[in-house]
Amino acid sequence: MSENETDANHPSYGYKWVRDASLTMDVVATLYGAATGVTKMFYQDLFFRYAVQRTQEQNDPDLITGLGEPKFNLDGSVFTKPWGRPQNDGPATAAIALMEFSNAYINAGGAVSDIRQRVYDSASFPNQAPVRKDLIFVAQNWSSPSFDLWEEEESTHFYTRMVQHRAMVMGAAFAKRMSDTSTASKLSTAASDIAETLQTFFNSRRNLILYEIGPVLAGKSSFKDTAVMLGAIHGYAGDGIYAFSNDQMLATAYQVATSFLPVYPIASQHSDGQGRILGIPIGRYPEDVYDGVSSSRGNPWYLCTAAMAETFYRASTELSNAGSITVSNVSLPFWKYFAPQAGVRTGRTYASSTAPFQQMISGLHGWGDAFLRTFKFHTPTDGHLSEEYDRDSGYAMGAIDLTWSYASLLTASFARAEAIGNTAYIAYLANMPVATNTSATAG
Ligand code: NOJ
Repeated sequence: MSENETDANHPSYGYKWVRDASLTMDVVATLYGAATGVTKMFYQDLFFRYAVQRTQEQNDPDLITGLGEPKFNLDGSVFTKPWGRPQNDGPATAAIALMEFSNAYINAGGAVSDIRQRVYDSASFPNQAPVRKDLIFVAQNWSSPSFDLWEEEESTHFYTRMVQHRAMVMGAAFAKRMSDTSTASKLSTAASDIAETLQTFFNSRRNLILYEIGPVLAGKSSFKDTAVMLGAIHGYAGDGIYAFSNDQMLATAYQVATSFLPVYPIASQHSDGQGRILGIPIGRYPEDVYDGVSSSRGNPWYLCTAAMAETFYRASTELSNAGSITVSNVSLPFWKYFAPQAGVRTGRTYASSTAPFQQMISGLHGWGDAFLRTFKFHTPTDGHLSEEYDRDSGYAMGAIDLTWSYASLLTASFARAEAIGNTAYIAYLANMPVATNTSATAG
């Protein structure tokens, strides 16, 4: 959600979107895991209240399309006006955030029985424990058409499938931890079924992971969409299927990032006021016409720019851990653009001790930082993050104080800290004093 302010320049965003809330709560789960003392209790309290709120949504008699209902009013009632529904990523990402929290809670010495009652077992505790119900819903409905994260087209979407896959992989292990072996086996079957379909999104002729297959949005002819990067950020299950450093993912990052160069006039500004290099302003997709209020010309988005940075940092961590990089004809365009100094060639493997390897890693870090610098350069001096920044002037546009914009900056900065080996960073952020006004909910 964001401030409920509607005028000619600002849309009405004073709602709770299931997706935005869950992606924000995923950040809270990370902070909870690294926090101590009273701050940890604050985050824990937010989570148990979030769990109750999700059960209220699940049980609402006014749901129009079941658990994939995308949007609620701030009093908790269903938003019943016409909208792109269902959006079946929501049950998956809500379950993921709650499972992240629960695993951290148990790892910190919390009782499994607390989690079973207050988070997991929807059959016995339908008014406080939403996770099992959302997971079973995903296992039964993942193949149904759904609106995408941009709420524009009912089809089969890479982003939605990725988060559903991760929910099933995590859910299978989590159900076992909850001693619910029959659910665990249903979820792991769904995980493998989804994994098979994920491969079909790569189009070798275009050298691109398609953001959707099936009906496609009119005019979106490039098939390039930052939703693919967001699919890895929120949906990578850690099992090697579409990791950040996957060649197809890198090829797609290259095509998506560079697709905005001819579209946004501000992309021609290459350095900030102090001569530091800026990255490319990143939006949802090059053909976008949503301007933050209505339809004219699309703009770069803060959360998309942060997502591109995060992709680069996470790819760098994976490749550093792997200790070598093999360049294929699929990944070659990415490396030629983002690490030209490395002079890499198809079919070669570069070990971590070699100069090209180090140049590739520093290309990833340098560009990650450049994308974040672009984000910062277009952030107003008061630090408030809207949804978008104007393609011509760079000024903030659209919804004011969009929660997801802030969440995206935090996950990108967590990824950066990991990439550069700053192990104290997350705990530092997590233990910053929090406002004790607990009436504010993330949405
Ligand atoms: C529009 C975005 O396309 C969608 O992803 C988001 O959930 C809503 N705004 C709310 O932020």
